[in-house]
Amino acid sequence: MSIHTEQKRISVPELMAYKGQKKIASLTAYIAPIARLLDEHLDMILIGDSTAMVGYGMPSTLAITAEQMAFHAKAVVEATKRACIVVDMPFGSYQESPAQAFRSAASMMAASGVQAVKLEGGSALAPTTRFLVERGIPVLAHVGLMPQYMNTMGGFKAQGFTEEAAERILADAIAQQEAGAFGVVLEGITESLGRRITEQLAIPTIGIGASPACDGQVLVTEDILGLSGGRIPKFARQFADVGALISQAVQQYATEVREGTFPTLDNCFGVKK
Ligand code: KIV
Repeated sequence: MSIHTEQKRISVPELMAYKGQKKIASLTAYIAPIARLLDEHLDMILIGDSTAMVGYGMPSTLAITAEQMAFHAKAVVEATKRACIVVDMPFGSYQESPAQAFRSAASMMAASGVQAVKLEGGSALAPTTRFLVERGIPVLAHVGLMPQYMNTMGGFKAQGFTEEAAERILADAIAQQEAGAFGVVLEGITESLGRRITEQLAIPTIGIGASPACDGQVLVTEDILGLSGGRIPKFARQFADVGALISQAVQQYATEVREGTFPTLDNCFGVKK
């Protein structure tokens, strides 16, 4: 008799139930080998549009296309079994109208198999969130520092320093909760505001440069592994220097190739001539 022990993925309602019980540990992944390594340790994996900058070397997240995001998302879904998989909707694919957002998000989900989408935007995007959620698309909202708004915000600047700005970000998070978002990413805001929003919301907050009090945290994997070329945001911590390991391994490989000591079939398996 064979026992079928298929690994079940963490679902969106399960993530929501973490609130007040368990912290959500999350990182980004854009490609299969990284996603495979992250899967067993994390509750949520985000295919962030940060891949535009981290993976493609673009100056912002604005130019990545829905097609590119869908390819990355499919690779991550296929390489994982356990974590809840969320993809960023790229700039221009959802801001025009709720109907445009639905078409883009539905194609993204059908093409990749992700469980949910992330949208940048507060109160102004709340009707879009409601439209998607009512039609079966779980939405993770993203407020505070929103990289897709870099041109209106004047760059990648931390937000919420004045009382008025803090109130606006809190109102954005509440509007997204009321519209049905299952969680809210809080990026680049003051610690006290991150804590306050987390206390006020019934849905999980996921911080990135916000507060340790958030219900979860997300970071860019390349930043914590030393794969970002030495430039990491102030709020990130490098947990390993994988970049140095890769460089060392490649140097060793190149040396062996040049010295002619690189293994051949003959010296590996004793193949007879
Ligand atoms: O694109 C991204 O990586 C993000 C962050 C929240 C990690 O949106």
